[in-house]
Amino acid sequence: MDHLGGKAIIASGFHMIERGSVEILRNALIAIGEDGAIVSVLRPDERGYEEQKSRQKAMGMLVTLPQGAYLLPGFVDLHVHAPQYPQLGSALDVPLEVWLQQYTFPLEARYADAAFARRSYGLLVRDLVANGTTTALYFATIHQEATRILADICLEAGQRAVIGKVAMDNAEQCPDYYRDASPDQAIRGTEDLIGYIRSHKANSAALVKPVVTPRFIPSCTDATLEGLGALARQCGCHVQTHCSESDWEHGYVLARHGITDTDSLDRFGLLGRHTVLAHSTLITAEDMATIGARGSGIAHCPLSNAYFSSAVFPLKAALDKGIHVGLGSDISGGPSGSLFDNMRSALMVARMLELGVDPKLGPSERSRHAGARIDFRDAFYCATTGGGVALDLPVGKFSPGYQFDAMVIDTTDERGTIRLWDDLDQGETVLQKIIYTASKPNIAKVWVGGRQVS
Ligand code: GUN
Ligand code: FE
Repeated sequence: MDHLGGKAIIASGFHMIERGSVEILRNALIAIGEDGAIVSVLRPDERGYEEQKSRQKAMGMLVTLPQGAYLLPGFVDLHVHAPQYPQLGSALDVPLEVWLQQYTFPLEARYADAAFARRSYGLLVRDLVANGTTTALYFATIHQEATRILADICLEAGQRAVIGKVAMDNAEQCPDYYRDASPDQAIRGTEDLIGYIRSHKANSAALVKPVVTPRFIPSCTDATLEGLGALARQCGCHVQTHCSESDWEHGYVLARHGITDTDSLDRFGLLGRHTVLAHSTLITAEDMATIGARGSGIAHCPLSNAYFSSAVFPLKAALDKGIHVGLGSDISGGPSGSLFDNMRSALMVARMLELGVDPKLGPSERSRHAGARIDFRDAFYCATTGGGVALDLPVGKFSPGYQFDAMVIDTTDERGTIRLWDDLDQGETVLQKIIYTASKPNIAKVWVGGRQVS
């Protein structure tokens, strides 16, 4: 497929340089370097636009998007359990602690079989890329070989990925058939994967990165948490885990450590600028301040939280405090890997948090969360720019130095679900309609680092 390295693209579309303001691009000229990074973004009224356009055209290095096509940054999914893809859309009938033992650990244990891993991970990565997810932060399984296969597949498919071998060694919470045999195995296995990814022959551009991944406090011994904290400091890797997800999980950590997940992770040295905490639904105001002070990020998983969390994450409050928040599909805790679905869910649950949900209560008693709603701009920010900020990667917007990770939304595709009305839909309304009504047939093209991947 096509590579845009050295080329320029003329496109209309949308992105957010920062939270709160959507930039509408109209026939912007975006030049892309051989390394897939954006060299310049020129608007038609800016100096050099016509010159550069003519020069690229004369070289046969100019691509122009057709009418009705809009360029968006690729999506950043901050929380994906890659091995859980086979149970997407099923097994959502029990609480988290039962779901893990009854459905999820048995499924993840199957990745001891490399052929199964290859088939499952191949499907997942292809489907996520086709849905516009250009960067994914993945939990894999405890297995070395299968997790290496996931890294190989992302490199082949061209998806930007941050991948972790899951560490879980607490015999009280993890079954005999699926756990690291010791802290040493959990920590050494993590180190081995870091080495594999960093020295991979096909990964010289570091498209795939390793991440230290204690599953969550309940499934790890203190020795493992301590060792992984030290390893994270030493390797400078990303860190990911689950934090204060449900009443059971939050209560388990309070009972075992006498402090919240956030404080406990902090004591183990696991909260840093490159940490992403999934869910964090039940964090306290003090926890949120700690997360903000460490510069850690939160993966808001609105679909999954509806099934496994006991509450709605106060997204608007977190964003207003300057916390780095992006979206997570939490495949398969959430039944959709599409960040369009997750943006819509984030919009809906924030509205329900603001309004309350109990019809037996009067409007003044129904909610204690005035102002909790978000708008489509905040949802779009979380799915793109905000995800890039949380990972501290140059992705999520069209700025010089950022990677050209992008998708084309074809609003004219009849099989798709966007219906624009020329006399009604202008400016940001087009973006709003894309966010609320786009479906897979509308995603016409996807690039990662200038390489066409779908
Ligand atoms: N907590 C520990 N493991 C998991 C998992 O796989 N999914 C979710 N949603 N929460 C978890
Ligand atoms: Fe999860």
